[in-house]
Amino acid sequence: MKVISIINFKGGVGKTTLTANIGAGLAARGLRVLIIDLDPQASLTFSFFRPEEWYENLANKRTIKQWYDSAGQGRTPTSLASLVSTPPRVAHLISGSGGWLDIIASHLDLLSVDLLLASALDPRSGQVPPRRFVKVHQRLADGLAEGVGDYDIVLIDCAPNFNLVTKNAVVASDFMLIPTRPDFLSTRGIDHLGGQARSLVRRYNEHAAEGGDGIIKEPSFAVVFTMVTFRSDEPIEAHATYIAQTRGLGVPTFSTLVRDRKAVYSAIPESGVPVVLAGSAPRAARQETRQLVDEFRNWIEGNAL
Ligand SMILES: Nc1ncnc2c1ncn2[C@@H]1O[C@H](COP(=O)(O)OP(=O)(O)O)[C@@H](O)[C@H]1O
Ligand SMILES: [Mg+2]
Repeated sequence: MKVISIINFKGGVGKTTLTANIGAGLAARGLRVLIIDLDPQASLTFSFFRPEEWYENLANKRTIKQWYDSAGQGRTPTSLASLVSTPPRVAHLISGSGGWLDIIASHLDLLSVDLLLASALDPRSGQVPPRRFVKVHQRLADGLAEGVGDYDIVLIDCAPNFNLVTKNAVVASDFMLIPTRPDFLSTRGIDHLGGQARSLVRRYNEHAAEGGDGIIKEPSFAVVFTMVTFRSDEPIEAHATYIAQTRGLGVPTFSTLVRDRKAVYSAIPESGVPVVLAGSAPRAARQETRQLVDEFRNWIEGNAL
């Protein structure tokens, strides 16, 4: 089972859209995929479930918040496996592929979990005991290791911050996919994110070594450019410049560029079916997402981009 975080400290860069499309696309190719919505905005959850479905069937029973809450309160923790839901409209479209797509939904009050985790670290008491530091940061990794189900791939859609829930995702991940817009601030952000992830892993490993726990590897990361504006089949010059600069720095980047297609992407979530599987989406958009899915699969199988 491979775990991949889709992460960027900026919002609105396409994290959720990509998580939904890559997840559904991989499932349609026969892989067993779990996606976890770790963003309190719950956009990923709402791209598969209608608000009333979430409210009636998930909100108080099956979201990642219930899992964190149960572990934090010293009760017998709920297992992650018991929180999994199957988005009905996607399941219908991929039946027969051999693969499947499940989701662990988010909760609009997931922010309270960050506070709960922060209080478990209790930095007021000065030095955090190394064992506790490791335990709090690896809670999600532990939950996945205890057995979440029979999945080839787990995709985690992160919130645009670096709170403890997001840090849990990084610690649990083998890979980080960084959706980025091709502009100045966004490309600067890649450096920042890389630095933060590196420093988290270093601090985690220092504590782990001190407390006698196992150390972790820094997740491999790659950038996918999103919302790229094309003119006559080429990215516009401003976008091409930032893409070339990023590649020039040796940052691994996907060769598939996700084009700016407002009309396509803003219409789809309503139907509960991502573009990659939506018969109503323009063929070019579907082809682009399929190409991205293939490149993604190749990448996590260990091949260079
Ligand atoms: N390739 C794209 N072209 C145009 N609009 C997009 C594209 N991908 C996503 N969007 C739209 O941009 C907004 C932000 O995307 P989203 O995936 O929610 O970003 P994030 O999760 O990073 O905040 C949404 O309204 C979405 O429909
Ligand atoms: Mg999002």
